[in-house]
Amino acid sequence: MDILEIRSPDDFHVHLRQGPGLAAYAARSAEHFGRFLAMPNVVPPLVSGSGVADYGRAVRSAIAASGRASTALLSFKLVPGMGRDAVLSCAAAGAAAGKYYPAGATTNSADGVPDPGSVSAELSAMEEAGVPLSIHGEDPLAPVLEREGAFLPVVDRILAAHPRLRVVLEHLSTAEAVEAVRAWPERVAATITSHHLSFTVDDVLGERLDPTYFCKPILKTSKDRAALLEAAVSGSPRFFFGSDSAPHPPAAKASGAAGSYAAPVAMSLLAAAFEEAGALDRLEGFVSERGARFYGLALNAGRLALERRPWTVPELIDGSRPLAAGRTLSWSAARA
Ligand code: NCD
Ligand code: ZN
Repeated sequence: MDILEIRSPDDFHVHLRQGPGLAAYAARSAEHFGRFLAMPNVVPPLVSGSGVADYGRAVRSAIAASGRASTALLSFKLVPGMGRDAVLSCAAAGAAAGKYYPAGATTNSADGVPDPGSVSAELSAMEEAGVPLSIHGEDPLAPVLEREGAFLPVVDRILAAHPRLRVVLEHLSTAEAVEAVRAWPERVAATITSHHLSFTVDDVLGERLDPTYFCKPILKTSKDRAALLEAAVSGSPRFFFGSDSAPHPPAAKASGAAGSYAAPVAMSLLAAAFEEAGALDRLEGFVSERGARFYGLALNAGRLALERRPWTVPELIDGSRPLAAGRTLSWSAARA
């Protein structure tokens, strides 16, 4: 098969940033994705209805300027003390999810959640309003390779305390987390990125230190990658795509910023990974159907064409070094 046409895909986890970069990053996501969920760890963070509404206007005007037809979904950031009214006003402003960042776990998360008990009123408000909780599942106090596993018991506590809360565990990186998601009730789902399906810790540290591949959660072993790929191609409604595209300009990467610019290459990487698993026919379910169903959204109307046409990823795209920069990828993507 040399051309694969699929329903226009969704990206349920993307960082579009704020300020001058936003126009380029939003346009880049709109190039391939019919819809994307923008994360709230911008500066200043999205913690109020007016903040969510203002950011939504900025993102929508960036999409409009790009000339692409794409829909932005928004999220808000849970911070201790924000209160249930702020949660409900974020939901009223159109937030499709609330994001739980353990305090200090990743980029722009110092104001995050130290313990789920510190946001129990806010989680109850989300539960009542039917707003899903999106979780960055890492315990920043655990050793770096064990952070995801160390956070799984915290998810157990959140699920027990909030029996109707719908939860998305973001960017799974380990076989252990895949098993945990399978064992949790159906109200729990998970996103998987294209880089965790394609690369391992050896791409970050194996030859020369390459900050392009440095993200949270850090890429793990080939055994973990195999378990993630098996989950992605399984057809289970619990696993769907979120790119965690998180661009940082070269100076920020050079000083250690966590985050990888995935949007320009995500669809190419996914096609290659699914082909490797002998499951190209399952790609559409993973990127264009299962996330929409979990979030209760209609499927996108447009089409995306994936073509077996090699291209070499430029060293710089939109001012950031993308994942797979300098490598030749076997699949190209374009709106059909
Ligand atoms: C993300 C960012 O840069 O905003 N970084 C990352 O390493 N993935 C935040 C996040 O999702 O952890
Ligand atoms: Zn992220």
